[in-house]
Amino acid sequence: MSVVVTGATGHLGRLVVESLLERGLPAEEITATGRDTAKLADLAERGVTTARADFDDPASLRAAFAGAETLLLVSGSEVGKRTPQHRNAIEAAKEAGVGHLVYTSVLRADRSTLSLAPEHKATEEMLADSGLPHTLLRNGFYSEVFSTQMEQAREQGVFVGSAGEGRVSSASRPDYAEAAAVVLLDPAAHTGAVYELAGDQAWTYADLAAAIGQVLGREVAYEDLSEDDHRAALIGAGLDEGTAGFVVGIDTGIREDELYEESGVLSKLIGRPTTPIVDTLRAGV
Ligand SMILES: NC(=O)c1ccc[n+]([C@@H]2O[C@H](COP(=O)([O-])OP(=O)(O)OC[C@H]3O[C@@H](n4cnc5c(N)ncnc54)[C@H](OP(=O)(O)O)[C@@H]3O)[C@@H](O)[C@H]2O)c1
Repeated sequence: MSVVVTGATGHLGRLVVESLLERGLPAEEITATGRDTAKLADLAERGVTTARADFDDPASLRAAFAGAETLLLVSGSEVGKRTPQHRNAIEAAKEAGVGHLVYTSVLRADRSTLSLAPEHKATEEMLADSGLPHTLLRNGFYSEVFSTQMEQAREQGVFVGSAGEGRVSSASRPDYAEAAAVVLLDPAAHTGAVYELAGDQAWTYADLAAAIGQVLGREVAYEDLSEDDHRAALIGAGLDEGTAGFVVGIDTGIREDELYEESGVLSKLIGRPTTPIVDTLRAGV
């Protein structure tokens, strides 16, 4: 088979390539793509094909996707530009004759109030309209992103937020990457599926404080603020208005359980429990 992965210069895409190799897909059947192929040189040395694919350059996408039976479209990282970029990728996939497209979306993209969701929802709709056989991996949050709170707590023994007692069912990037590899290796078994992927164990920010305390070996507290006070604290710490609003918006979503999911689909797909956040945080220390 032939599998093309976008975003292989990034964290998740690279882990997917590693997972495909670990699961026995021959290196020559994998094409790892990104904007800067120099970042993929070590994969090329291991026999993986590498190609430049820039979402803003449709010709590069058509060339990189040509002949792919299966394509993993890892959502781009340029928030606000992703709808046209993903449109380019989907159109190129169709033109290149890709057999099956797997897209990394966000939890409950069709009804989520998270500010990140509309670009994912639009991409899912474009995929539906494209007629391409596809699978949606609606990923919950990566546990790794909460290392920000750990860094704050490391200095001060406390981190602030405005998530109240909302629950987060996070999992590690390697967990999500492995799920993507499972689907990429048997796309026909997952055609049309919409997977809400999340960690087995949900936690609140108070639980996160306890987990961080365990990793750092010190007492850590979570201080719950109002949205206004949280925004002011972030701006006081040097964030611009837009970024502060984005961060507060994430906590609002958490407070409303937008990142809570109990389907257990992720652990079923990968055939093992998801990684507890304490283990992910410890690995990052
Ligand atoms: N669920 C979560 O908690 C969470 C958290 C953060 C992000 N995300 C989403 O999940 C995706 C993967 O996460 P990650 O941690 O692997 O992010 P990452 O390390 O930032 O990787 C993003 C990848 O997207 C590529 N990319 C960005 N713009 C592109 C463009 N115009 N054309 C082609 N490729 C482009 C990047 O290429 P370059 O190397 O050239 O920049 C990189 O390979 C992110 O892009 C974002 O959509 C999810």
